[in-house]
Order: sequence, then structure tokens, then C-alpha cells
Amino acid sequence: MITQHAYAHLFALSLLVFHTHALTYPVDSAGNPQPGAIETYYMDPVNLWENRNIWRSGRKELNPAINRVIRLASGASNDMATYTVTSKPSTFLPPSNDPHDYYSLARYYWPNNSTANGLPYMRVDGSVNPEIYQLPDATYLQIVFADVWSCGLAYFFTGNETYAATAVKRIRDWFLNDTTRMNPNMNYASWVKGMPAVGPNGENATALNAGGLLDMSKVYQFFDGVQLIRSSPSFLQSDYDGLYTWFRTYLTWLQTSPRGAAEARSVNNQGQWYDVQVTSILLFLNQPSLAASVLQTQTIPRIPSEILPDGSMPLEQTRPTSWFYSNFALAGFFVQGHLAASTNVSVFGYQTSDGRSLLRALNYLVPFALGNGTGWPVPNQGGFGNVTTGEMCKEAFVVYRDQKFLTAASQLQNGTPMTWNPTRLWSPYNVFDVPLRSGARRSQDGTWIVPLGMVALWFAMMNS
Ligand SMILES: *[C@@H]1O[C@H](CO)[C@@H](O)[C@H](O)[C@H]1NC(C)=O
Ligand SMILES: *[C@@H]1O[C@H](CO)[C@@H](O)[C@H](O)[C@H]1NC(C)=O
Ligand SMILES: *[C@@H]1O[C@H](CO)[C@@H](O)[C@H](O)[C@H]1NC(C)=O
Ligand SMILES: *[C@@H]1O[C@H](CO)[C@@H](O)[C@H](O)[C@H]1NC(C)=O
Ligand SMILES: *[C@@H]1O[C@H](CO)[C@@H](O)[C@H](O)[C@H]1NC(C)=O
Ligand SMILES: *[C@@H]1O[C@H](CO)[C@@H](O)[C@H](O)[C@H]1NC(C)=O
Ligand SMILES: *[C@@H]1O[C@H](CO)[C@@H](O)[C@H](O)[C@H]1NC(C)=O
Ligand SMILES: *[C@@H]1O[C@H](CO)[C@@H](O)[C@H](O)[C@H]1NC(C)=O
Repeated sequence: MITQHAYAHLFALSLLVFHTHALTYPVDSAGNPQPGAIETYYMDPVNLWENRNIWRSGRKELNPAINRVIRLASGASNDMATYTVTSKPSTFLPPSNDPHDYYSLARYYWPNNSTANGLPYMRVDGSVNPEIYQLPDATYLQIVFADVWSCGLAYFFTGNETYAATAVKRIRDWFLNDTTRMNPNMNYASWVKGMPAVGPNGENATALNAGGLLDMSKVYQFFDGVQLIRSSPSFLQSDYDGLYTWFRTYLTWLQTSPRGAAEARSVNNQGQWYDVQVTSILLFLNQPSLAASVLQTQTIPRIPSEILPDGSMPLEQTRPTSWFYSNFALAGFFVQGHLAASTNVSVFGYQTSDGRSLLRALNYLVPFALGNGTGWPVPNQGGFGNVTTGEMCKEAFVVYRDQKFLTAASQLQNGTPMTWNPTRLWSPYNVFDVPLRSGARRSQDGTWIVPLGMVALWFAMMNS
């Protein structure tokens, strides 16, 4: 799998040399994407392609997962609503008073009872102020991302044009239509009411609230959805060009605005999720070497600064919801690990001499997930939900091929195979259903064999 993946990405990279952003998606005479030419960045493109071929040949194993994606895409297609930032009521405008500016409130900030009007809001970490749900932008953005992703997958597997058209509607409504589009900035995302207002050119980054730019972090899924409808006649060249321009402008904002720059300097989970945005945008903009540079110079250094040699993450463990944030922070690293698959940087394989690595961090979390938090060494609010840990175990099994992660994932879901889980659509065919063949390469402590092999393979190919 890894061999094919690496070769396919080499092929994809060689194609990129000839790409301009105006080039259409490579398809064969029947309009199908050519093998190895599916340019998804988070989801493994070769696995997607192979699973689609196997499913189309009549095999049934992927039916539950594909049917689930189709149900989601059908639901989206039946929802004729227009999801835009301009839907918010005029009583809920950001300080700029521009309805095209995205506006959401910081989750953990509350009115200060000691001031006359409650302003400025004060931080109560771990306690979500329900007032955030009065503003629709955050919810609508997640709907746009989720719908484009599920419609992209459903279109890719079934070829049903309705799903591509639905994704295109979401894209146009949110990003492109002059009447409804979002301005390409997050100046008012996660806003703390009453904090000194800083406009788009504000210089004092410490005056900006600490809320972060996490609202945009699922953009990596959105891009994969977009890539999967690239060959659809519903998705016009002008749509692609408009999105390209939007994200090029937003990337500049992300990298140069005071808020974007402040987020880049975040040392906790927000740093990972900032990198996820920058990396996936650069990949979408056909800038793979810049994406590799972000992974190498920003993301890799975050590993030793967040993860201790024992695998714990102290910056997350000091939060009231310490379990949630420990998982969330590692999940951000995992996304970077997948995005890195199309580059020459290995995030999954990186390890410091004192043993800090993604693998170590997951190994630290798994026993607490299996034990419903028993022995977790720090205070924790909000319980020990195990879904994120379980998903990371599955991903780790695919990456490191260590059976213990598959066993843990199975235990976390009480032995019930999650056949409907869409993850299997971009994983090697049936990888979660068949035990490792005896004699398959497997590391004893689950560390180095595969990542080093990937690096060696990469160099071998580069030099051949
Ligand atoms: C395509 O999807 C739409 C929306 O779910 C559905 O109504 C239609 O029947 C599908 N078409 C085919 C050919 O399956
Ligand atoms: C502010 O006052 C309200 C109402 O008395 C109370 O419920 C809330 O907990 C107080 N908030 C803080 C942060 O003290
Ligand atoms: C709440 O407001 C009072 C009065 O202005 C101020 O002294 C206090 O520091 C504020 N609390 C927080 C947590 O910001
Ligand atoms: C743009 O959005 C407006 C408002 O929803 C809508 O009336 C118009 O048809 C849209 N234009 C295009 C080209 O989709
Ligand atoms: C930035 O803004 C904060 C909050 O208003 C203020 O405390 C700080 O002094 C400012 N820093 C500079 C360098 O102006
Ligand atoms: C990875 O690729 C980048 C540009 O594509 C290059 O500058 C860098 O030297 C490469 N790194 C390795 C370790 O090969
Ligand atoms: C996990 O522990 C919490 C209390 O700490 C309990 O409410 C919950 O039911 C437990 N869950 C499981 C699956 O055992
Ligand atoms: C994982 O969480 C689910 C849902 O709360 C629960 O049913 C299951 O028992 C948990 N697994 C373990 C091993 O605690």
C-alpha cells in the first residue's frame, strides 16, 4: 500500500510540474479520473481509486460505508437552504458591520459580572457559553465543509451528478457569489466581546483575543471534496479559479495578519490546526514544496514542544477538559501526518532522540481510553469519550501496521465492526477486517520499520 501510495504521489508530483491552476482534472475518455491522478490530499488517493474499482466490480464489503456517504449526500442534496455568512441577522453583525465578514464568538468567554455591561468578556476555560450558538456562521461553515466532503465522496463512488451539483451550490453560496460570499479573512472568528477591536490592519497582536482560528480547521476535508468533483461538468473552471483566488487571498491573511500570525505562534493544539490550514491550502494551490516546508519547519518542531518523552502533552493536560484537548491536539498532528504523505516529510515517522513522537503520544492515550479514564493523572471535565482515540488507532494501524492498534480500536467499539465508517473508503481495501498475514512486516514495539522504509523508498526513487 505504502509503495503504491508513494509511487502514485511521485506520479502526481510529476504531473504537478505541468499543472497550472487552470488545468482541468485528468480524466479518461469515459470521464473517469485516471488511476493515480486523484489529487486528494488528506484521503489516500490510490486507496480511494482502488476501493472504487473493487466496489464497482460488485464486491459488497464497502456497501455500508458507501451507503452512509450516499445518505449524507442525499440529505445535503435535499436541503435547498443557502448557507452563507450573510444569513446572520443584522442584530448579530461583527464589529466591522460587514455581513460578509465571518463572525463567531469565543467558546469559553462569559460576561464579567463585575462590570456594568459585562464587557469585556472573561475567560472561563472548559465552560462553553451557549451564546455562541446564536450566531449561525460557525454552524453553517461546518455544514458547507461536511456537505462538500460527503457529496464529493458520493459523487466519486456513484458518478451521480446531483451530488456534484449540490457541492457546487455550497461552494458558490459560501465563497463565490458576490451577494453572499464570505470575505477571505477570519478577523472576527472566535471573537471576545468587548476586547479592543482590531481591524484588518491592526498591529497589536496581543490585543487580539486568544480564541484562535479553529473554525476553519476542517478545510482539509473540504478540499478533498472539491478535488473529487473536479471532473464534474457541474463544477466550472470559473468555480475552480474563484476558489483558487479566494484561498490564495485567505492564505495571505492567515500568514500576515496579526491574528493569523498570533495563531501561528500558538504552542498548543491551535498551532497544529493552524498548520493544517496552511498546509492543506498550499496543497490545494499546487504548492507542494511550500507545503513540505511548512510541515518541516513548523509542524515537526511542534512535536517535541508539545509531546513529552512519555507521550503526555502537558499544555493540553492543564486544560479543564484535559482528555478532550489531549486527543484533539494529537488528531491535529495526525491530519498533518496524512497531508504529509504527498511530500517528502514524514510526520508519522518523526521521533526525537528522547523518543517524542506521534506514536508515543498515541501509546500514552490508548490505555486511558480503554479504561474509561482510570488513572488519568490530571483533573478532567467532560468525560473520557473514546471515538477520537479509536479513530487514531485505526489510522495508526494503517500507518504503522501494529496489530495492537486494531485490537484497541475494536475493543473501544466493543468488538462491533464499524463497517459503515467512511474511513475505510480511503484505507487499504478491507484492512480492518482481515488479520495481518503471518510474516507480514510488523514492528515489535510499533515504531520504526514502516516510516524508515518509506524514507528509504523515497530516496531510492528520487535517485533512480
Ligand atoms: C442521484 O441522487 C439523487 C439525490 O439523492 C437521487 O434522487 C437520484 O435518484 C440519484 N440518481 C440516480 C441515477 O441514482
Ligand atoms: C455571573 O452571574 C450569573 C448570574 O448570577 C451567574 O450564573 C454566573 O455564574 C456568573 N458568572 C461568572 C463568570 O461569575
Ligand atoms: C471583571 O471585571 C472587574 C471590574 O472591572 C475586573 O477587576 C476583573 O479583573 C474582571 N475579571 C476578569 C476575570 O477579567
Ligand atoms: C447569488 O445569490 C443570490 C442570493 O442568494 C441569488 O439570488 C443569486 O441567484 C445567486 N447568483 C448566482 C449566480 O448563483
Ligand atoms: C497591546 O494591547 C494590549 C491590550 O489592549 C495592551 O495591554 C498592550 O500594552 C498593547 N501592547 C502594545 C505594544 O501596544
Ligand atoms: C524535500 O523537498 C524540498 C523541496 O521540494 C527540498 O527543499 C528538501 O530538501 C527536501 N527534503 C528532503 C529531506 O529530501
Ligand atoms: C465512564 O466513567 C463515567 C464516570 O467517570 C461513567 O459515567 C461512564 O458511564 C463510564 N463509561 C463507561 C463506558 O464505562
Ligand atoms: C467507548 O465509548 C462507548 C460510548 O460511550 C462505550 O460504549 C464503550 O464501552 C467505550 N469503550 C471502552 C473500552 O470503554
